[in-house]
Amino acid sequence: MAVSSEEFRAALSRFASGVTVVTSVDGEGRRHGITVSAFCSVSLEPPLVLVCIEKLAGSHASLAESGRFSVNLLASGQQWISERFASLESDKFRDVPTAPGLTGLPLIVGSLASLECEVRQAVDAGDHSVFIGEVMSARGNGGDPLLYFLGDYRSLDLG
Ligand SMILES: Cc1cc2nc3c(=O)[nH]c(=O)nc-3n(C[C@H](O)[C@H](O)[C@H](O)COP(=O)(O)O)c2cc1C
Repeated sequence: MAVSSEEFRAALSRFASGVTVVTSVDGEGRRHGITVSAFCSVSLEPPLVLVCIEKLAGSHASLAESGRFSVNLLASGQQWISERFASLESDKFRDVPTAPGLTGLPLIVGSLASLECEVRQAVDAGDHSVFIGEVMSARGNGGDPLLYFLGDYRSLDLG
């Protein structure tokens, strides 16, 4: 018996995660960005991470064709950036502070950490693709994380 979509969503909403923005640049030089919580470390040697991207998302073709992406781990003050990159706005990068990374990918300034990755494998997985990327550069900053739990943004309560 297959699980219903309501049961599936309700169970998964109880998994607390961080929030990332995955950026890429397509063949015409256009920048793409998408809010992603399906991010995971995979391997230390070589350093691999994965992101799961919906096939219908505008970023999907850009990642698949360019073979490169960045992952920006958002800080607690960056909820508006998460909302922007989860929206249908045409210019998602408007007013978002970015800086070029070592490979030229746009990195989001103020993120807790930014990774630049080269796609090593793209795995077909239902309505998503799993992109496994080798981390070519990684930089981190201080700060508290932006969290997502039960369908809402949260921040760490360190008290
Ligand atoms: C907190 C949060 C987490 C999300 N995680 C993912 C994810 O892991 N993978 C994904 O494909 N979409 C995810 N989404 C949805 C995309 O951000 C959303 O569909 C976005 O509008 C796609 O943009 P695009 O079509 O311009 O690429 C998430 C949205 C939110 C708000």
